[in-house]
Amino acid sequence: MNKKDPDLAVRQITKIIRNEDIFDSIDGIHLIVELLRQAANKKELAKELSLISAFTLGGSYHQKKIIENMACFEDKEDKDLSHIDLRIMQLLEEGIIEVCNVGGIVNTSLYTDYHFKAKSSDFPISISRKEIDIIYNTMLVDIPHGRCILEIGTGFGFSSSVMGLMLDKLQKDNQIYTVDSFVESGNTDKVVENRNVIPPCFLESNIAYQTACKIRERWGIRNVKQVLGISPFIFDEFSPQEPIGVAFIDGGHFYEQPTRDYLAIEKFLDKKSKIVLHDSQAASVQKLLDLLLSKGYKSKSADSSCKILILEMPC
Ligand SMILES: C[S@@+](CC[C@H](N)C(=O)[O-])C[C@H]1O[C@@H](n2cnc3c(N)ncnc32)[C@H](O)[C@@H]1O
Repeated sequence: MNKKDPDLAVRQITKIIRNEDIFDSIDGIHLIVELLRQAANKKELAKELSLISAFTLGGSYHQKKIIENMACFEDKEDKDLSHIDLRIMQLLEEGIIEVCNVGGIVNTSLYTDYHFKAKSSDFPISISRKEIDIIYNTMLVDIPHGRCILEIGTGFGFSSSVMGLMLDKLQKDNQIYTVDSFVESGNTDKVVENRNVIPPCFLESNIAYQTACKIRERWGIRNVKQVLGISPFIFDEFSPQEPIGVAFIDGGHFYEQPTRDYLAIEKFLDKKSKIVLHDSQAASVQKLLDLLLSKGYKSKSADSSCKILILEMPC
């Protein structure tokens, strides 16, 4: 193993995993762990490995073992997110969620990124594993005290619960509000007559809602508040005490919906608020992006399968 070339080590390990059933034996796991031990950039390698293995296997006992083994490479000072991977493994093993890919395999520079969905349900799809890192580094580490995170689009509760865990790890007490109608399409035009009335019997059989509750319960999430309602109408009733710290817009992705979402929450934003857009390749999200750029926001895009974008007002 070339200790000066961590990329080479990643490639070698990837090749072994893809070509052999290495995870099916404890010896195989020991071999992988030994390769990791010899490699130069252990943390990066371990992360790559966990991504590749989760993609290949969709969650198994062996993956968990690998990730447990990763712990011995961790620098105690490091803000590594392997605790999140362990929690995700727990959900995969319990059959609460499944790994899925959007539009086939999406290769980023080094490895395959992947998403999740609730078991037995094709939609909604969560943020990707790589986007967890991006959200941590761009949305959460520097969020000011007292400001909330507002997520439009709970889905099956994955992104909000992951953010909840990360805030705990950062010892931050910011509140997360996550809004969803849990109506299949979320199409505002279709549900407009009902405004925010979501009958309890509808929620009882809604897989996304039930999975969101289960994830919060399994992970002991206390800092996420579920807001049931249809955007934009629900924001007539919403009133945060301080301007929003981060608005994560990941609700309906059709027609004018992202723009409607933004216009409904604009009154809760100030110059320090960040706006994060998911699926920025979608035409509907592009419309909102154009509006935000015309208002003076600067955008930072991150290399992720769903092209997450972080928008800020220049200081
Ligand atoms: C892509 S999913 C969100 C995924 C989630 N952020 C994650 O990464 O785990 C989009 C969600 O937006 C919701 N949605 C769509 N239109 C909406 C609307 N007008 N009001 C409230 N929720 C809506 C859908 O019900 C769906 O659950």
